[in-house]
Amino acid sequence: MKEKIETIHSEFESDCSTITDKSTLESVRIKYFSRNGLFAKLFEDFKALPKEEKPKYGKVLNQEKQIAQAKFNEIKEKIESKSEKQNVDIDLSLPGRKYKIGNLHVLTQTLNEIKNIFKGLGFSVHTGPEIESDENNFEMLNFPPDHPARDMQDTYFLSNSFLLRTHTSPVQVRLMRNGKPPFRAIMPGRVYRNEAISAKSYCLFHQVEGLVIDTDVTFAELKATLVYFAKQLFGEDVKYRFRSSFFPFTEPSAEVDIWWQPKNKPGKWLEILGCGMVDPNVLNNLGVDSEKYIGYAFGMGIERMAMLKYGIDDIRLFYDNDNRFLSQFK
Ligand code: PHE
Repeated sequence: MKEKIETIHSEFESDCSTITDKSTLESVRIKYFSRNGLFAKLFEDFKALPKEEKPKYGKVLNQEKQIAQAKFNEIKEKIESKSEKQNVDIDLSLPGRKYKIGNLHVLTQTLNEIKNIFKGLGFSVHTGPEIESDENNFEMLNFPPDHPARDMQDTYFLSNSFLLRTHTSPVQVRLMRNGKPPFRAIMPGRVYRNEAISAKSYCLFHQVEGLVIDTDVTFAELKATLVYFAKQLFGEDVKYRFRSSFFPFTEPSAEVDIWWQPKNKPGKWLEILGCGMVDPNVLNNLGVDSEKYIGYAFGMGIERMAMLKYGIDDIRLFYDNDNRFLSQFK
C-alpha cells in the first residue's frame, strides 16, 4: 500500500507539470479524480486491507488525496484565468470591421446637384402631384385638343380628365395660378409615359422643370442660365448646342444637346432638355398679364444628366435596384 501511494504521488507530480491548457487539465482530472480514477482505485484497495492495517493508511491516504486535489485546483484556476484573459484581450492593431452602409440613389444625388446649382442662382424649389388633370397637363399649356402628345400612345389616362403627368410642366401651371409674379423656381418630379421599354426609354422618369417670370426676362438670359448650369454639372469644357424646336407652351422654343463621347466608340449629341420663352397664351390662361410679364421655361431629364455624367448606357439600370450598380455611386 505504501508503495502504491508513493507511485501515485510521484506520477501525479509529473503529470501536473504537463498541464498547459484546458484539455490536458481535463485528462489529468479524469486520470486521478474521476469515479474510476487512480484515487478512487486507491480507496478500493484500502477497503480491501486487513483490519489491522487500516488505521495505518487511512489518514495518509486522505491527506495524500487532499494535497493532490488542492494542487490540482490551483493549477485549474491558473489555466482558467489565463484563457479568460485571452478572451478579453483586444488587439488594438487589428483593422476594424467594415459596416455596410447605403448611399443615396444616383438619381437623388444628381437631383441634389441640380438643385444646388439653381439654388445658387436664386431659384426656389416647388413640387406638384403625379396625378394631374388633363387641364393642367395639357389644356392650360396650350396643347390643342388633337395634339399628338394627348394620344393614348404616350399618356397613361386614369379617366377622361385625369392622368399620370407626362411632364413636370403642369407644376408651372399650379405655380402661376396660385402665386403672383415674379417667379424664379425649379420643380423636380417623376413623370410617366407609355413608351416601349428599352435602354433609352422607360415608362417613368424624372424631370426638373424651370420657370422664370419677370418684367425684363430675355432669351439671352435663358441661354446664359442653361450654359452656366451645363458647365457647373458637366465641367467647364462641356460641348453643347442649342437647336430650335417646338413646344405648344413656349415660343420660340429650343432643345439643348450635350456631346457624349464614350470610350472607344463614336460620340454623339444627346438631348438633355427643352426650353423656350413662355407662350403668352399660357400666361393669359393663368391670369398673368402678358403685356407686363415675360418669362422663360425649361424642362430637363434627370436620368439623361446622370447617364451623361457617369457614362451609364442603359436607363433601366436606375430602376433595377441592383446593389452592384447602386453602390458604385458612393
Ligand atoms: N415639358 C417638356 C417635355 O417634357 C420640356 C419643356 C419644359 C420644354 C419647359 C419647354 C419648356 O418635353
